[in-house]
Amino acid sequence: MTAIIPAAGKGTRFLPATRVIPKEMLPIGAKPAIHCIVEEAIAAGVDDVVVIISEEKEIIRRYFEGDPELASRIRFVYQKEQKGLGHAVLQAAGDVKGPVLILLGDALVSGPNPSVEMVAVSKANGGASVIGMEQVPQEKVSRYGIIAVEGSVPTAGGSARIVDLVEKPSVEDAPSNLAIAGRYLLDGEIFALLSTQQPGHGGEIQLTDAIRRLLERKPVYGYVYPGKRQDIGNPAGYFTALEAFNGNC
Ligand code: G1P
Repeated sequence: MTAIIPAAGKGTRFLPATRVIPKEMLPIGAKPAIHCIVEEAIAAGVDDVVVIISEEKEIIRRYFEGDPELASRIRFVYQKEQKGLGHAVLQAAGDVKGPVLILLGDALVSGPNPSVEMVAVSKANGGASVIGMEQVPQEKVSRYGIIAVEGSVPTAGGSARIVDLVEKPSVEDAPSNLAIAGRYLLDGEIFALLSTQQPGHGGEIQLTDAIRRLLERKPVYGYVYPGKRQDIGNPAGYFTALEAFNGNC
C-alpha cells in the first residue's frame, strides 16, 4: 500500500506565517506536523509515501532528506499548478498501483490512529474503499465534502456504506452533516477516474467528484474514526492541535 500526502496548497488561511513556512512544517512539539502524518501512515502498514509539494515548499523535502531512513521510503512529486485536491493526487498516479491511503497534510488526528483503523475496516469489507468521516455543525457543511450513507448515521467507531457525496454543498443541498475528514483509503481505480475528472466546485478537479464515480462501480464505506481531526491550516486550529497533542504527536 502506498500513502499520498498532498501538501502543495498555498496555506492562505495561515498568512503571513505561510509566506515562508509551509503549514505542514509547523511544529507539534519537536516534529513538524507532516512528520507526524508520515508516522501515522507507516504505522498503518504503508510501504512507501508520496508527498505532493510545490517548488515553493522544497523545505519539506529538505527536512526529510535529513533523516535517511525515513527518506528512503518517501518520494516527492511536484504539483506545478494548483488545480485542486483531485489534481494533486493525480500527480502521483504513475508511481502508484494498488490501494492508496490519502492523508491530507493539514489534518492531524489526535487519539487513536485513524489510518490503522481504516485499514481494518477495509479488510473487514473485502478490501473496499473507506473514507474517514466526522459530524460537523449543519451551518458549516459548505466547508467540507458531505456524505450520505445507507441506513442510520454511524457513531464514533462505526461505519456505513456511502450512497452519495458532494463537495462543499450549500446548507440547503447538503445530504447530511457527515463530512469527509482528511483520510481516505481508496481503490487504485481512483487514478483512472481522476484522469478523466472534469472540474467541479470552485473550478477545481475534486477528489470528492472522482469518488462519487468510484461509488457507482465499487462499494465505498464511511468510517467515523474515534480520534479528533485537528485542522492546522489556520491559527486557531493549530493552537487547539498543540493542546490536543500536549506537546507530542
Ligand atoms: C478537502 C476536501 C473536502 C474535505 C476537507 C477536509 O477540502 O476537498 O472534501 O471535507 O478537505 O478533510 P479543503 O479543506 O482542502 O478545501
